[in-house]
Amino acid sequence: TVHERVDTFHDNDQKPVGYGRMLRKEDPRFLRGRGRYVDDVQLPGMLHLAILRSPVAHARIVSIDTSAAEASPGVKAVVTGAMLAQQNLAWMPTLSNDVQAVLATDKVRFQGQEVAFVVAEDRYAARDALELIDVEYDVLDPVIDARRALEPGAPLIRDDLDGKTNNHCFDWETGDEAATEAVFARADVVVSQDLVYPRVHPAPMETCGAVADYDAVDGKLRLWSTTQAPHAHRTLYAIVAGLPEHKIQVISPDIGGGFGNKVPIYPGYVCAIVASIVTGKPVKWMEDRSENLISTGFARDYIMRGEIAATRDGRILGIRTNVLADHGAFNGTAAPVKYPAGFFGVFTGSYDIEAAYCKMTAVYTNKAPGGVAYACSFRITEAVYLVERIVDCLADELGMDPAELRLKNFIRPEQFPYTTKTGWVYDSGNYEPTMRLAMEMAGYDELRREQAEKRARGELMGVGIAFFTEAVGAGPRKNMDILGLGMADGCELRVHPTGKAVVRLSVQSQGQGHETTFAQIVAEEIGIPPADIEVLHGDTDNTPFGLGTYGSRSTPVSGAAAALVARKVRDKARIIASGMLEVSVADLEWDKGAFHVAGDPGRSVTIQDIALRAHGAGDLPEGIEGGLEAQICYNPSNLTYPHGAYICVVDIDPGTAQVKVRRFIAVDDCGTRINPMIIEGQVHGGLTDGVGMALMEMIAFDEDGNCLGASLMDYLIPTSLEVPDWETGFTVTPSPHHPIGAKGVGESATVGSPPAIVNAVVDALQPFGVRHADMPLTPSRVWDAMRGQARPP
Ligand code: CDP
Repeated sequence: TVHERVDTFHDNDQKPVGYGRMLRKEDPRFLRGRGRYVDDVQLPGMLHLAILRSPVAHARIVSIDTSAAEASPGVKAVVTGAMLAQQNLAWMPTLSNDVQAVLATDKVRFQGQEVAFVVAEDRYAARDALELIDVEYDVLDPVIDARRALEPGAPLIRDDLDGKTNNHCFDWETGDEAATEAVFARADVVVSQDLVYPRVHPAPMETCGAVADYDAVDGKLRLWSTTQAPHAHRTLYAIVAGLPEHKIQVISPDIGGGFGNKVPIYPGYVCAIVASIVTGKPVKWMEDRSENLISTGFARDYIMRGEIAATRDGRILGIRTNVLADHGAFNGTAAPVKYPAGFFGVFTGSYDIEAAYCKMTAVYTNKAPGGVAYACSFRITEAVYLVERIVDCLADELGMDPAELRLKNFIRPEQFPYTTKTGWVYDSGNYEPTMRLAMEMAGYDELRREQAEKRARGELMGVGIAFFTEAVGAGPRKNMDILGLGMADGCELRVHPTGKAVVRLSVQSQGQGHETTFAQIVAEEIGIPPADIEVLHGDTDNTPFGLGTYGSRSTPVSGAAAALVARKVRDKARIIASGMLEVSVADLEWDKGAFHVAGDPGRSVTIQDIALRAHGAGDLPEGIEGGLEAQICYNPSNLTYPHGAYICVVDIDPGTAQVKVRRFIAVDDCGTRINPMIIEGQVHGGLTDGVGMALMEMIAFDEDGNCLGASLMDYLIPTSLEVPDWETGFTVTPSPHHPIGAKGVGESATVGSPPAIVNAVVDALQPFGVRHADMPLTPSRVWDAMRGQARPP
């Protein structure tokens, strides 16, 4: 393990090839406002689609009268669920083997559900006509509180499902119940705590939308859409619409943030496709902010009870949890099918314990569907929050320093690969140096002294720690698939005659800088400068099949594919070089960018010379075809397990209960680092998300099911005013199975920061005897906690 502080690192290593800080290739277009997003697509004759949404959470549809809307100026078509039902298109599969209404036919099941759509000459005409559609609703009692969803007599939400008599969605368990029971029975100390991870929304800057263009002449559908997984979406459209895949082209152009929100297929995409087929014209659908917040994939919404058992001297023995998961009206969770609770199974965290058990029940409620992994690998955020909060509760109970308690229980370096008590195999890790570096950067002992002095003066200062292990890079395909599509990634590399290259990825960037970092990976392997390597992605006609970008899987899966495809090209280049230099392959040595004869560095050929020869007039060695290109499909053997130590310092105003995050130290370990500058950007963004979730964000509902977070006036997201200057550091523990030792990092900070912030707030409130308060820790919540009135949301 190497470790150093990032602040000693200067922006001076613009290396001609390979890893290191490099300004993003994307910057010239993004910083000048020249990105090309779905809403920038303009096609001749394009029409505009707007969706009518339900104003109520639960109601039977009595009638829909569209006649006035149809007569409205500029309107080309008005479509209802009943019309879709005639084509067998009223329902579509979700990513979790449930079904979801494209347009409601029988009932509406959440506020904001799609009821009808209008296609018109422009966006204004379409929106105006929505107001002329007359829907009669027979309003039903809604189920809003997940805790009441299974009560006898609760209104039945999913009466569309055959034989369904209650709102039960699924049960799931992991670990060993009996072994955990035994460990708890003999423990000196058992602490339990109820925790709520509230419903939050990924809220990407760009909302969701699509432009569908069906060409009736050649029978081809082109779909520009805000998707994080263009290939998977294409296959699903092919299955649902009965069109062959080669007749569907999904294009995901520049994407203004995804964070999991753009993994599911939304009714709007399907409506745009139907509208283009019906009208014979290109059709654009673009949601507004409120539509995005009320109807697209939410995240979290777990009601958890965490229990931890330990010896009196602070040895953690077991962790147990019971979870009630609110899945909304349709189970739209995006997770590998074998994992209905995502990767929540990693709730044992970074600790070497004897037993663990989780029992989960998921229910339907009258809320928007989702359960997407908002900037995390499938429910790891919830798992890390649970374990890092209850470890702090245990420290409080034992009167032990929370850093010391963690250091005492970490999985030790020699235990890797480490199989957790719930069956996850952590590939590598070295936790103590990461933790110690964070403590050193924070000046941990000094912070505790400062806190003691301030407490004595009645000031409220808190120091919170979180240590996390993430699990990123889904597959392997034998364990992980989405609706039968195995989680592996293709990659293709072509080197042109002049030594310029194009690498085609199956993953799709949403702002993470893939055009830069994937060029760097290939550059490191074949020695062509990143500037000469073009990265193509996000177009199913021009890239190989793969499952897409979410759960920080791009680097662990496609990054590995890019390195291996480049090695394949290098192997061929070596054979061509042996012919050019008239020596055997074994006599060649590789310096990044050229082969030379061993012991005679003067006799060498560059990769550019080789590329020209591969396409040129001269002879190639026996059995070698012309060209210099390769293709690969990479199936990871395991996930990668990045880790990190986060320390947060907060001050709370005792008069207003306002929390200020004064300092935040984040030490991340994502194995081999491709571009440290991009990594820091990813960490800064994730930490900012964490401040939002911990202190401000919640999609709440009133008792009638009205969404109270339907605009950014009510759903607060953090700005630069709410966040401190982030202090980042890193350690490097390579992944043993990844070809370049890299692990993912995109979401580590979103996962690790909420518990650090909550732990800091609870620490600050210790003089009030507070052991826990639920997110978001708004001033009123903190005020209630100070007065001994903390309530779950
Ligand atoms: O899948 P996603 O791109 O969201 O997440 P990721 O694989 O963690 O990568 C996020 C960005 O950080 C990409 O541009 C990666 O190439 C970069 N990264 C890096 O430079 N070094 C790593 N070890 C991991 C990611």
